[in-house]
Amino acid sequence: MADVKFTQLQSSRLLLRRFSDSDIAPFLAYRSDPDVGRYQDWEPGSYTLDDARRFVRALKTSHPDVPGHWFQFAIEVKATSEMVGDCGLHILCGDPRQAIIGFTLDSSEQGKGYATEAVLRLLDYVFNSLNKHRVSATTDCENTKSIALLERIGMRREGHFLQNIWFKGAWGDEYQYAMLKSEWLAMTRR
Ligand SMILES: CC(C)(COP(=O)(O)OP(=O)(O)OC[C@H]1O[C@@H](n2cnc3c(N)ncnc32)[C@H](O)[C@@H]1OP(=O)(O)O)[C@@H](O)C(=O)NCCC(=O)NCCS
Repeated sequence: MADVKFTQLQSSRLLLRRFSDSDIAPFLAYRSDPDVGRYQDWEPGSYTLDDARRFVRALKTSHPDVPGHWFQFAIEVKATSEMVGDCGLHILCGDPRQAIIGFTLDSSEQGKGYATEAVLRLLDYVFNSLNKHRVSATTDCENTKSIALLERIGMRREGHFLQNIWFKGAWGDEYQYAMLKSEWLAMTRR
């Protein structure tokens, strides 16, 4: 069921909100950074202003919790009002009780715990507001920062795929992580 009333989520230092036109420039800047795009499915060198405009335009008429679709939340630091990254939420087409998440931060904003805070807030929304049963995330086995984040927030490594993806000219290995709603509740009620 699409969350058509969605505007924003709040945590202590961050807002997870809808993208707006003012986000196009900072979004394009970090999408163009080779370090940020290394393990992502876009090519930093060829991501254009038009791509960024299309991305933001499409999100204006999108809502979270639509089966078969990704919704991206802009991550804003409350203290500076700067947009520093994004979190993605995909609802499975075949089973809308399950979701996939993704996350990206501008390089200059990494190492401050923002991604951890944003993803924990997203999981709270996904399990407690959208009532999803299971959330998963997949990461390249070489993406140490992403692996550290997924383990920091308590997701469980449940798969190690060998050469399962043809990625930027070579076979890549991936880990799959997941969390059940029951695991989230046990973790957050401790
Ligand atoms: C994955 C990614 C979002 C992780 O970013 P990150 O900055 O390492 O993660 P966080 O924002 O949670 O910050 C954690 C770091 O901040 C530190 N930190 C500082 N203050 C903190 C706080 N209040 N709370 C938690 N951690 C804090 C932690 O100790 C940790 O430092 P460390 O890396 O030296 O151990 C980032 O590397 C990224 O955008 N990568 C490119 C995109 C990508 O590959 N995404 C994943 C696709 S699967």
